[in-house]
Amino acid sequence: MKNIIVFLLFTIAGPCFAQGLTGNWAVKDPLPDGTFRTTYLSLKQDVERITGTIRVTQFYYKIAESTGNAEGFTLTGSMMDGASERRVKYEGKLVGEELHVATRRRPDAPLIEMVAHRVPEGEGAYPARRPLPELHKVSDNGLARTPPMGWNSWNKFAGRVDDAAVRGMADAMAANGMKEAGYVYINIDDTWEGERDKDGNITTNKKFPDMKALADYVHSKGLKIGIYSSPGPNTCAGYEGSFGHEERDAKTYAAWGIDYLKFDWCATRNLYSDEEMRAVYQIMGDALLKAGRPILYSLCQYGRADVWKWGPEVGGNAWRTTGDIRDSWDSMTKIGFAQDELAPFAGPGHWNDPDMLEIGNGGMTDDEYRTHMSLWAILAAPLLAGNDLRDMKPVILEILTNREVIAVNQDKAGKQGRRASKSGDQEVWTRPLADGGIAIGMFNRGSAAAQVGVKWAEIGLKATPKKARDLWTHGDVKMDGTEYTAIVPAHGVAMLRVTP
Ligand code: GLA
Repeated sequence: MKNIIVFLLFTIAGPCFAQGLTGNWAVKDPLPDGTFRTTYLSLKQDVERITGTIRVTQFYYKIAESTGNAEGFTLTGSMMDGASERRVKYEGKLVGEELHVATRRRPDAPLIEMVAHRVPEGEGAYPARRPLPELHKVSDNGLARTPPMGWNSWNKFAGRVDDAAVRGMADAMAANGMKEAGYVYINIDDTWEGERDKDGNITTNKKFPDMKALADYVHSKGLKIGIYSSPGPNTCAGYEGSFGHEERDAKTYAAWGIDYLKFDWCATRNLYSDEEMRAVYQIMGDALLKAGRPILYSLCQYGRADVWKWGPEVGGNAWRTTGDIRDSWDSMTKIGFAQDELAPFAGPGHWNDPDMLEIGNGGMTDDEYRTHMSLWAILAAPLLAGNDLRDMKPVILEILTNREVIAVNQDKAGKQGRRASKSGDQEVWTRPLADGGIAIGMFNRGSAAAQVGVKWAEIGLKATPKKARDLWTHGDVKMDGTEYTAIVPAHGVAMLRVTP
């Protein structure tokens, strides 16, 4: 009798206990901005071993470790993101037909408890590839004759940007002299997006209650407004992208009054290869031209697939040439000093973009920020401030609004500068200017003050320049002889504008 009970218990409870987690589960997790993240868990339980995958937006994790069983388990999902590994950890248990799971958004964040339900296999499957268009040349939209100047929310605010912050930046830019110095775009980066409505129109999330009203406000300050999306189904931060909705989104942006679009590859890589990027970016290039409003088109795909060779063909006004910048000397110089060979690809209407400015975000010294500004000016790079414009030290505002350095950046000839010489930590870069002059950046990458010299013959001058301006001290410099030497502080710069 006892044996029969044990047998019955095993046959009734056994298989359930052994495989209870097997199947597909979905859980909708609300974010504070009113949007949802759905996590799909595709699990296979084999007694005390759980395998399978976990997907959150575009991120697929393979279950690398598990402990326990349906009555109480932990799962660790692992994903390679470039060279680094990302991990997610879930703990949970089966409660009747529900799967109770808990996770943390970051290792130090509070535990979030959620309830997952069974879904049929294939539900929530990642969107399928769509056919790509034949390649053609998208006409020039006539914008960005000089590198775009403005502000972008990402470096300082990331996911915390909202309507109030954007209005605040517009107020600040219009009042603090930046607008007069040439800054014009106020660009909202990732995390403004809501869901699509029943017709497929993109909406905003709670942080941006009325995008049209916000655009009107920014325009009322004499400024322009930019927005962000992705050619893929998700943006980098996992929000709704423009995949399959390019024309509709371009029209929505135009109706809101948007003047600038940053279009970020990110999740698109789940569907298309780097070789297909040009065709993918062409779709939005065409859509923007038909949107009924001039919209600057900024490609963000981290300099992959030699974008500088085809960026203008898809209507791109700028393209990122590198991965994301960070607010550190190492990151900024690693990016900035590596741009030399890309110079031939920049020109009026289409610019190399070594990423947004970190000036004023606190991770570098004032001298380092002067180097950042000078280098970006010589590189004819977009000047998109990335700090909190409502609250900056006078020296930071001074760096950002240095009119003489900005004049180099905005020079009408649109020729990107290049490295003229390098000797140890000292580098001289030059940029030819429309008036026949030359901008000269004398950089000291070393950690002690040093002499940096420039020989006129080395930068193509036959004689001592007649006129020379120091663009940071704002004084004329008297030149004689065959060269000029400056004492440049550690990680600092001296910048000249010479007229032969
Ligand atoms: C990528 C881009 C960044 C920023 C974030 C937003 O990392 O390179 O500039 O737009 O996405 O998620």
